Amino acid sequence: MALAGSVRGSQLTRLLGDWQGPGRRRSGPEYAQLAGAVRSLLTDGRLALGVRLPAERELAQALGLSRTTVTAAYRTLRESGHLTSRRGAGSWTALPGGHRVGTSGLWAPIEDDEIIDLGQAALPAPPELTDAVAAAAEDLPAYLTSAGYHPMGLPVLREAVAADFSRRGLPTLADQIMITGGAQHALDLILRLLVAPGQRTLLETPTYPNALTAVLASRARVVGYALGDAGWDGDLLLSTVRDARARLAYLIPDYHNPTGHLMETALRERLPAAAHAVGTDVVVDETFADLRLDGPELPPSVATFDRAARVLTVGGMSKPYWGGLRIGWVRAATSITARLAAARVAVDMSSPVLEQLVAAHLLGAREQVLAARRAQLTARRDTLVAALRARLPEWRFVVPHGGLSLWVELDAPVSSVLARTVEELGVRVAAGPRFGADGTMERFLRLPYTRPEADLVEAVERLAQARESVDRVPVRPLRAPAIVA
Ligand SMILES: Cc1ncc(COP(=O)(O)O)c(C=O)c1O
Repeated sequence: MALAGSVRGSQLTRLLGDWQGPGRRRSGPEYAQLAGAVRSLLTDGRLALGVRLPAERELAQALGLSRTTVTAAYRTLRESGHLTSRRGAGSWTALPGGHRVGTSGLWAPIEDDEIIDLGQAALPAPPELTDAVAAAAEDLPAYLTSAGYHPMGLPVLREAVAADFSRRGLPTLADQIMITGGAQHALDLILRLLVAPGQRTLLETPTYPNALTAVLASRARVVGYALGDAGWDGDLLLSTVRDARARLAYLIPDYHNPTGHLMETALRERLPAAAHAVGTDVVVDETFADLRLDGPELPPSVATFDRAARVLTVGGMSKPYWGGLRIGWVRAATSITARLAAARVAVDMSSPVLEQLVAAHLLGAREQVLAARRAQLTARRDTLVAALRARLPEWRFVVPHGGLSLWVELDAPVSSVLARTVEELGVRVAAGPRFGADGTMERFLRLPYTRPEADLVEAVERLAQARESVDRVPVRPLRAPAIVA
């Protein structure tokens, strides 16, 4: 993975936080403590790989330490393989033995009823789907006299999606919408159209694994932006955007998968112009935008602040409605949607007519479907939160105000081994490194709250048992690749 970007002394100081504080349980000389704290930031994914660290003098000043201490800390990090330096050029974060890609993005459906599958953050179809299918079948005869190819999508669905954007405060014409085979397909088409091999694509870390897989498949170079505990640090994101000069930035501002963070309006306002200034187009993945549970109102879509028409917004039916429909969309300038439609000819020509009609009817039942989803998900989220607090109180998380999962910080970097152990107890989870792109995130675990409440309570019970045994029992490898959705 090729990476770019740098952190300033003040930014690294902020990331390090209370690194010497009483809760830190660090001992030994100060330089070793500092090296340990930087190493933790790296393995937790809070500091991305390939990022240039501040010059020793700058960091010493920012931390109020002597330069000798910082020099010794950097030397320790170099010796342990966490830093590479070029004389006169600077020092970049690394992982010992070179980094690896932590995800295959492989999708393996699981048919075993005995297993509580928390690998997928996705819901079963809503009851309204059956009526939507019946209504779509009634509409179908009107379409049967044509050949059925609509590379941009059926007008009726494009209009419904455009109306949804307009209702959210982003005036949108049907011509600006292209219907795709899911948000994933939209991202793949965008990458095909806009990113040439070797060009850079900026991604949050952690991020949605299948997006990362698509970016890697496009042979783009990946630039990581590490999300913090509280989400995006506006200044740091914008300076990363400026330094990276990427062709594309892919971001998930609405109930980010996996962390659940919601990007604040002020940053949404600044992002498009900052990206455009360095030639970066922004892909905004709004897959979870309709799944607000509580907390602040959903801020305006990032494209609302886009004066240059270089923000591409991706969304779809999968998370609020049903993944089995395989219907998604892109909202972009009409010149871009037309080129995307031309690009899809090489892939799938067009989306299925019947499914698009079903999607249009489901969007017509929007209020009803979403109200039921929100009530169900809020109860499930609260149950999961309560069970974790009772059984695993040392695990930390920010309760998300929307989306489908908790991003849990474990008490130790044992996510992969825990996932293997708990699978033996009949629970499947996606370990942190699946979301980390580079073998980091071992301290994190994604726990979706999409299953019924009793399953969630039982899953937490088994996770607690697994956590206890991780330190004692050798674990066997996974039986099958874990599912991530
Ligand atoms: C952030 C994000 N984007 C895209 C997708 C894929 O969506 P679709 O099923 O519409 O292709 C997912 C699915 O988990 C997701 O979490």
